[in-house]
Amino acid sequence: MNNMRLIYFKSVTVLLLIFNLFGCESVEGKADATDIAFVDSLLKEMTVDEKIGQMTQVDRQFLNDISDISKYGFGSLLSGGGSTPKINEPKAWAEMYDLYQREALQSRLKIPLLYGIDAVHGHNNVIGATIFPHNIGLGATRDAKIVEAVAKATALEIAATGIDWDFAPCLTVPNDYRWGRTYEGFSEDTELVTELGNAAILGYQSTNINNPNRVLACAKHFIGDGGTSFGTGLNGKIDRGNLALSEEALRKTHLPPFKKAVESGVATFMAAYNTWNDLKCHANKYLLTDILKEELGFKGFVVSDWAAIEEIPGNYKADIITSINAGIDMVMVPGAVKFGNESYEKFMKLFKESIEDGSIPMTRVNDAVKRILLIKKQAGLFDRPFSDQQLLSHIGSQKHREIAREAVRKSMVLLKNNNNLLPLPKNGKKIIVAGRGANNIGMQSGGWTISWQGEMGNKAEGTSVLDAIKSAVDPGTSVQFTEDGKDVQGDVAVVVIGEEPYAEMEGDREDLSLDKKDLDVIKTLKNKNIPVVVVLFSGRPMIITDQIEQWDSFVAAWLPGTEGQGISDVLFGDYNPTGKLSFSWPKSMDQLPISKADDYLFDFGYGLSY
Ligand code: GLC
Repeated sequence: MNNMRLIYFKSVTVLLLIFNLFGCESVEGKADATDIAFVDSLLKEMTVDEKIGQMTQVDRQFLNDISDISKYGFGSLLSGGGSTPKINEPKAWAEMYDLYQREALQSRLKIPLLYGIDAVHGHNNVIGATIFPHNIGLGATRDAKIVEAVAKATALEIAATGIDWDFAPCLTVPNDYRWGRTYEGFSEDTELVTELGNAAILGYQSTNINNPNRVLACAKHFIGDGGTSFGTGLNGKIDRGNLALSEEALRKTHLPPFKKAVESGVATFMAAYNTWNDLKCHANKYLLTDILKEELGFKGFVVSDWAAIEEIPGNYKADIITSINAGIDMVMVPGAVKFGNESYEKFMKLFKESIEDGSIPMTRVNDAVKRILLIKKQAGLFDRPFSDQQLLSHIGSQKHREIAREAVRKSMVLLKNNNNLLPLPKNGKKIIVAGRGANNIGMQSGGWTISWQGEMGNKAEGTSVLDAIKSAVDPGTSVQFTEDGKDVQGDVAVVVIGEEPYAEMEGDREDLSLDKKDLDVIKTLKNKNIPVVVVLFSGRPMIITDQIEQWDSFVAAWLPGTEGQGISDVLFGDYNPTGKLSFSWPKSMDQLPISKADDYLFDFGYGLSY
């Protein structure tokens, strides 16, 4: 911006500030009027290329050169799952963020970047971060306060790395557990999703998005991804499938969490990959504009999902025209050419052509850019574009790990407890800890942990069930670890089994039976007449009807994250279990989708206490 314009620009802002000081508007009104004037003035300065740049989001791993950030004036960068700095530790993340932001401020108009990431159960890409329970476990807590506390702690850990925007909470209402994203949902129950989703948004954002310790939230995925039909999705399964539902049923089951999100002031929305009655949500103007922006009055901006516009039928230029005109304000391109997606250069070229040939009206572009800039302004990004590395000490802090431990305790659902085997004594019994999950924080955390899919092993820093039990018992109490249950004798066995980590379509499964290795370890122990306490790590209720008879006690632990002591707190009675099922537990695969059944193994809301 040249000097004369800068003087004009600043004087307009000063005049408006004076006006507002003596104006009678509310605090919000002052902020809005000043912010709107700032953005309107900036918009007038922008070229078409700069406007297109603001509507473009690229994954930093696919940048051809860091100078592209200032050259194209990207509105946003993201780290997709696993898109980490070379050295994956907190300070390196903050330095990477500042490096990109400094480059963004080299652009002509010096518009700062918004940096987005999937921190869906803690700042889960970052080694050293606190990893909290996935939403399925938070749903079992039935505790909006702990959900808000988890989101607030997560926001602080994200902000500590400079990052401004969390692609969370997921407000899906899962109906068919064959879907690999079931665990990203709080519950099968719309009301519970609405309540806990609202709590999460308040935790991430607080009530004023201009807050250096919080981040922008993202209500996702709009709309109906939890209701798709098996067989209509990717690879003939269910993820990104078709939601065959009347508008009335859509409004009853899937809309309320998003309506509440708008009322809670959520800054952004992310469109859903799925189709609704065979039309892609990313192409659906009725959903993205008529309902979301006009009927619900959403004033923030809508981001597409990862290369999602490419899944709209038609060529790429048609995809761009259709999605932007439908109401997508920012496109997560994200430039993954090596994975067969389109380049950001091609996106911007075709986007510009579409404006020049009138396929995308400039009024639509201006509306989208204004929405994006207004969020950046209201979030304080123009005033505080860089990380505050004094916040780094909050990452993985003891305080946050205590919050996570409380959330884990409250998420445990006790579903069986024959002869009051639980709680276990802290002395006087020889305790065996067995199974693939006993000493495996990767299984304990599930997908979206350090990498997109997560992985077995102990890459994330935390406390396994084995370590938690060892620290819980009295000195001298025997604790023996065995993965397969062989070559041990003892008085009781805690057997930790479950699903290996997965995310999205990689978790779509036609059969939710337990792994044979898990069943074998239980059988080995039972053959030695050792009573077993089964602890299940899973992203959904599994089919256990034929096996649970042999289990003496059973705790559904979901995907609790790094703080395994929350599990031992329940096993030893330091916390009397309060968790309640937020998903009905089916007897067989025939009972899925769950809404069509009624005689479950365990009902929604079920959970025992001592
Ligand atoms: C993924 C997910 C979405 C996530 C985005 C960025 O495909 O659908 O939930 O926020 O891409 O990683």
